[in-house]
Amino acid sequence: MRQSSLVVVANRLPLDDNIAPDGACEWRRSPGGLAGALHAILEQTPATWVGWPGAIGEAARLPDLGTLRLRPMSLTDDELRGYYEGFANSTLWPLYHDAVEPPVFDRGWWESYRSVNRRFAEAAAEVAEPGATVWVQDYHLQLVPQLLRELRPDVVIGFFLHVPFPPPELFMQLPRRIELLRGMLGADLVGFQRPQAAHNVAQLATKLLGAHGADDAITLDGRVIRTGAFPVSIDVAEMRSLSARPYVVGQAHRLRHDLGSHKRVLLSVDRLDYTKGIEHRLTAYSELLRDGRIKVRDAVMVQVAVPSRERVENYRGLRDRIEREVGRINGEYGRVGEPAIHYLNQPFDRADLAALYQTADVMVVTPLRDGMNLVAKEFVAARRDDTGALVLSEFAGAAAELEDAFLVNPHDVDGLKETLLHALAADPAELATRMKAMRDHITTHDIHAWARAYLTELELARPLLS
Ligand code: ADP
Ligand code: G6P
Repeated sequence: MRQSSLVVVANRLPLDDNIAPDGACEWRRSPGGLAGALHAILEQTPATWVGWPGAIGEAARLPDLGTLRLRPMSLTDDELRGYYEGFANSTLWPLYHDAVEPPVFDRGWWESYRSVNRRFAEAAAEVAEPGATVWVQDYHLQLVPQLLRELRPDVVIGFFLHVPFPPPELFMQLPRRIELLRGMLGADLVGFQRPQAAHNVAQLATKLLGAHGADDAITLDGRVIRTGAFPVSIDVAEMRSLSARPYVVGQAHRLRHDLGSHKRVLLSVDRLDYTKGIEHRLTAYSELLRDGRIKVRDAVMVQVAVPSRERVENYRGLRDRIEREVGRINGEYGRVGEPAIHYLNQPFDRADLAALYQTADVMVVTPLRDGMNLVAKEFVAARRDDTGALVLSEFAGAAAELEDAFLVNPHDVDGLKETLLHALAADPAELATRMKAMRDHITTHDIHAWARAYLTELELARPLLS
């Protein structure tokens, strides 16, 4: 494979290997914020993306995406279990999200995590041209920066964590905490969503590695590693132009009509993940129906929950619980031809998502913990006028930027109920003021601004080679 001056290394490729109903293999955009965000900036940049296309076994050859070359990595069934479903998604993912589900410490998974990280580092080393920039993404690949530095001391290495970095008390629980910290600090620049994360890492590096840690730089083994917050964003212009397409506008009208033109629509769009607070929101909505404070003849909820990590036990259990609860709520409060909740456990294409965002009166985003939450930003970008309210969890990274949302603590179900009612009843002038402020923010803080800020800082962090 030819070499590139910019290499992105992420567990997921932006295309997902998907088996169509007729058994043929087709490609579609991967779920989740990371792939969407990076895809938007890399489509017009000569670069190579090293990642996994989402299936078990030998990876197929992939088409280029514009100027972006894809370097597929294969995963065996054992690696899928040990590295991806195990260490990445049953140990690190819950631990990094405030342990909202208990992290599992299974000693058998570490070897798999380490060896897959090594293979990703080797693949990156192979496709990086001399002096290239290599940008490693997220918790799946936390050992890659250090491994790559050993293989290719000539390249400049960035690491960006899309999820929260936990408080030191939680990180200290990790049996492999030293290796994970050292691995990440193999980079020249380590970026996070929020400044608190950089602070946590500085404290841990001082305590565990004897480094000199400050909030913007860590000195370890005579090397300076820069750190900082770079809140990720979306391609605002793309979402705006998509939202103006006649198909999307027509589809939004159709949806509105089908949902009941006179009704208020509450919308949620999530990966089906226990960090997203779906159950808390269903409880709040169901209690509002029970207490007669929301009536099915006046309002309807749409919950889109795209399937995710379906072989992991916690995710299967969550899906069962949610589906039971949706069935119960519809059974108790729905009427013939008039459900209380529409539940859609399926992927949507971007145009249909944009239409859904336009249909909502209240967008309900209530994660218990989230690195950023791009859905909240997509909702704002998709609105074509100043109507619509965003109810947003304080525990999403996006809350630090979208201060004009109706901010809420999703653990406080009573508070959540009051906030939903407040948003539903808000005066149009208030909503317009809030929406304008949020739109202005994301317009100047879009995905291109994010990539520019990170890559400029990374260039400054490039070590001077003798
Ligand atoms: P996470 O990265 O944890 O999944 P984000 O909110 O940051 O959460 O990103 C989710 C991304 O997945 C968004 O870009 C959103 O549009 C996309 N998405 C969510 N639900 C669906 C769906 N049903 N079909 C397709 N894409 C979806
Ligand atoms: C989050 C993670 C990403 C991940 C995405 C989807 O956004 O930060 O790294 O790609 O969820 O999850 P999946 O396991 O399907 O890749």
